[in-house]
Amino acid sequence: MEDNKPKRRVRYSGKYPRTFEEKYKEKQPEKYQDLIDHVMEKGNTPAGMHRSIMVDEILTFLDIQPDQIGLDATLGFGGHTKAMLERLNHTGHIHATDLDPIELPKTNDRLKGFGYTDKDFTLHHLNFRDIDMIEVQGFDFILADLGVSSMQIDDPERGFTFKHNGPLDLRMNPEVGLSAADRLRSMSKDEIEGMLVENADEVYAKEIALEIVRERSLGHFIETTKDLQSVIQKALRNLPKTMQEESFKKSSQRTFQALRIDVNQEYEALFDLLEKIPNLLNPGGKVAILTFHSGEDRLVKKAFQHYHKLGTYKAIFGPDSPSLDEVHNNPRARSAKLRCAVKA
Ligand SMILES: C[S@@+](CC[C@H](N)C(=O)[O-])C[C@H]1O[C@@H](n2cnc3c(N)ncnc32)[C@H](O)[C@@H]1O
Repeated sequence: MEDNKPKRRVRYSGKYPRTFEEKYKEKQPEKYQDLIDHVMEKGNTPAGMHRSIMVDEILTFLDIQPDQIGLDATLGFGGHTKAMLERLNHTGHIHATDLDPIELPKTNDRLKGFGYTDKDFTLHHLNFRDIDMIEVQGFDFILADLGVSSMQIDDPERGFTFKHNGPLDLRMNPEVGLSAADRLRSMSKDEIEGMLVENADEVYAKEIALEIVRERSLGHFIETTKDLQSVIQKALRNLPKTMQEESFKKSSQRTFQALRIDVNQEYEALFDLLEKIPNLLNPGGKVAILTFHSGEDRLVKKAFQHYHKLGTYKAIFGPDSPSLDEVHNNPRARSAKLRCAVKA
C-alpha cells in the first residue's frame, strides 16, 4: 500500500558551523582568506581573530624610527605589534607582554610566519604591571590596547560573554587567581554591589547583588554565563515590561564588565603600568594608550595630567576616537579612546 504521508523533510544541518568549537575554518584564519574577508565586509570579527583598532592614528603618533626599542604591553592577536614591526623593518626590537597563555604561543607562530624572528621581537608571558622586569635600557615607544581580545570574547570556554553559554571564568590568565564563579561564591552582598557600581556604574547593582545572594542561599551557585544572565533577569523582573529587554541587555553587559575587571584586577594593573611608564621611557619617548570604558580612560587621563604637571611628560594628547568609517567596519571599535604622551 502506498504511504501517502508527506515525507519528513530531512533536517538541514546548517550551512555554517553552529558552535565555536565547530568553527574550524575561523580557527585557522590564514587558510580561509575569502571567508574571513566576507565576514569582515559585513562588519563582523571572524572567530579566532582580532581586528586592531586605530592603527593609523597610533602609527602616526609614534612615528617609529629605525633601530628604536618598543613595547606592546597588550600583544593579543599581534596586529599592532606586526604594524610596528613593519615600521622597524628588521631594525630595532619590540618587546610584547600578554597575560594570556592560550593566545600568546599562537601569536608567536603567526608573527614568525610573517618572517619576523627572535632578533625582531621578544614575547613575555607577563602582566604589564610588571613591565619593569623586562631587561632593557629604556623604551622609545610604548603601546597599551586595554581590555580583552576578540579571541577571548568569542571563546565560550573562557566565559567572557553572555552571548554563549560557558563556565563563568573571565580570567585572561586562567592559570592563576579565582574565576568569576568562585568570586561570586565568596563575596558578600555589599561587596558585589560595590563592585558593580565601581567597575561598571551598574544602575541595578543593589537588585542584582540581592538576587545573587538570594540564589546562593537556596544552594543555586552561579557557575555558567547563562546562570548569571538568568539571575540578572530575575533581579529586573519588577521593571516595567517596556524597559525590561533593553535594561536586561545593558545590565548584562555591565555586570560582565564589572566581573572581568574584578577577577583580572584590571584597575590595579593599569595603575601600576601608568606609574611605571615614565621611568621606562627614554627622553622624547612616546606612549599611546587605547581604553574602552570610562573607568580606564579616567585613570589614564589623570596619570597623564599628573606627570604633565610635574614636567615628566612634555606633551599630552587626546582623547581621540576612531573614525566613523572604522566604527562602521568594526563596531567593536565604537567605545575606543586614544590618549598619548611624550616624555620630556
Ligand atoms: C584588546 S587586546 C589587544 C589586541 C592587540 N592590540 C592586537 O592588535 O591584536 C588586549 C590584550 O591585552 C591582554 N591584557 C589585558 N590586561 C593585561 C595585563 N594586565 N597584562 C598583560 N596583558 C594584558 C589581554 O590578554 C589581551 O590579549
